[in-house]
Amino acid sequence: MPAPIRLPPGCGKLLEEPLLYSEYQMRFIRARRQRFCLSCRTMGSMDEMGKFTCGKCGKEHNGRWGNLTAPRCFNRFLLLSGRGGGKTLIGAHAVREELMIKEAVWWVMSDTYKRLHDSTFPTLVGLLHPTWIRHWDPEHVEITLQNGAMVAFRSLEDPDRARGPHGVNGMWMDESALCPERSWHVGTPMLIKAGGVALATTTVRGYDWSYEQIERKALVYKEPGYWTAKWKTIDNPLFRSHPVMMAEIERARKTMTERLFREEYESERSNTEGLVYGEMIRKNVLANDDEVRKYIPEWPNIDPSRKVLVGVDEGADHPFGAVCIVITDRGLVVVSDYLERMKAHSAAHDDIWRKLGLYRWSEKSFFANKNALNLRLEWGLKGTGVAPVESRQEIGIQRVQSWLLSGKLKFAYTAPRTIEQMEAYHYNENYNPNSGEKKSKELVFKLKDELPDAVRYALMGFPEIPDPDAPGMSDAEQSRWDSFDEKTRWELDELKELRRARSNKGAELQPEEENYPQGNIYMHDELY
Ligand SMILES: Nc1ncnc2c1ncn2[C@@H]1O[C@H](COP(=O)(O)OP(=O)(O)O)[C@@H](O)[C@H]1O
Ligand SMILES: [Mg+2]
Repeated sequence: MPAPIRLPPGCGKLLEEPLLYSEYQMRFIRARRQRFCLSCRTMGSMDEMGKFTCGKCGKEHNGRWGNLTAPRCFNRFLLLSGRGGGKTLIGAHAVREELMIKEAVWWVMSDTYKRLHDSTFPTLVGLLHPTWIRHWDPEHVEITLQNGAMVAFRSLEDPDRARGPHGVNGMWMDESALCPERSWHVGTPMLIKAGGVALATTTVRGYDWSYEQIERKALVYKEPGYWTAKWKTIDNPLFRSHPVMMAEIERARKTMTERLFREEYESERSNTEGLVYGEMIRKNVLANDDEVRKYIPEWPNIDPSRKVLVGVDEGADHPFGAVCIVITDRGLVVVSDYLERMKAHSAAHDDIWRKLGLYRWSEKSFFANKNALNLRLEWGLKGTGVAPVESRQEIGIQRVQSWLLSGKLKFAYTAPRTIEQMEAYHYNENYNPNSGEKKSKELVFKLKDELPDAVRYALMGFPEIPDPDAPGMSDAEQSRWDSFDEKTRWELDELKELRRARSNKGAELQPEEENYPQGNIYMHDELY
């Protein structure tokens, strides 16, 4: 009689546990099953046993090398959730399903042996039926199933441990934000040969490496193959159904700092130390129509005779961004924005004119980075002159900050993407804004910065600088001001101007001076 097969500890323990419906987990499962048949170029889905038979041409693409004839639609996954959101559980379900593919080889990793031991390993092994096990190798922490599939567990105290043989079908990194970024780069090459899948699951840690490597590629740049989902702890269907569990989460909310709670329970990335504008943005948001009317009384039908500034950030390898800023006597108001991926300059031109409704204004000025030569040329051919402005970040950011600090740069609620990007705009990790120490060429993290750049260009082009000593008028002051007649207002303005001229400390360059960063604003005349 053959010796009984030794089972890994906890084998099959979770088989009876129901998997409650969670929208995010299911979306992940569906996305992971999607395949593309190269024979007839048709998409389809594999079944829960990892089998894929093309629905159109009937060809089967199974086994360890199946991805070579019918690749995955997505092969780089990132699941972000708050603690206890259900990442490890759904990751384990996914790997369990992948192991139904004959001779599949999977690597399951986490930052430490302890985490593997406490959570990742027992969750996955708990989903493996004891009759499926052919061999358990406790020394190498590897399990072989009856169908020849194999799963190896590795802890990443040493990032090079992610280096495996070629032809691996998949790797799963649990709590990837705690794993070194290097292990991701060391691990992914082993997937090439079999067209394998990489899955990272994690609670966020600020802008950890998964942001740049996966999230932004999936959500911002929409690069093929990348997929990301993000959810909160309270989205866990088990917790939702249980008042005691919900009460625990509520208690955490009350006892943690808001920032920590947002990271740990809501998977919101934050990086307050590194933020360029941070809190200043919220303070300058005009959240509803009444607030906007304090600046633009005729809102929402903005008077077409008002002057507007349009800042444009061209999108060669990233989305095209533009903002529309209305000049009012109380300050500048960003009223709308545009953010579209991969548009040719000329196509973006028409799209921006249409979506920002630029036809209605007669007095508008366009500004872009002075290095954006093609943009200026192509837009010029379409009759839109774009003035080149100083592109250096340090100078532009200072200008924007001084507008924000004086409370004279406002964001209408109708420009939500600008608000979001301005809030998240942050310094590179290797740049210390306090000491000003620069280690790399780029000052600011070049991610989701299209709209902050567009705002910066517009303000660099606008030949006015807010008076830092004169804070914006309060509402009471404003209504007093509004009640004056035209002549009185003019006289007061003249007086203010006189006072300003007398006390001019000359700290900022003036528009008429040489080297003023706006460049030649009238250059666009030459383009017609
Ligand atoms: N869809 C679900 N149905 C039932 N229980 C779930 C579901 N998702 C998660 N859970 C349970 O919630 C708890 C936390 O899940 P876990 O995967 O460990 O979270 P995370 O890895 O995101 O911290 C576990 O006990 C898990 O079994
Ligand atoms: Mg977990």
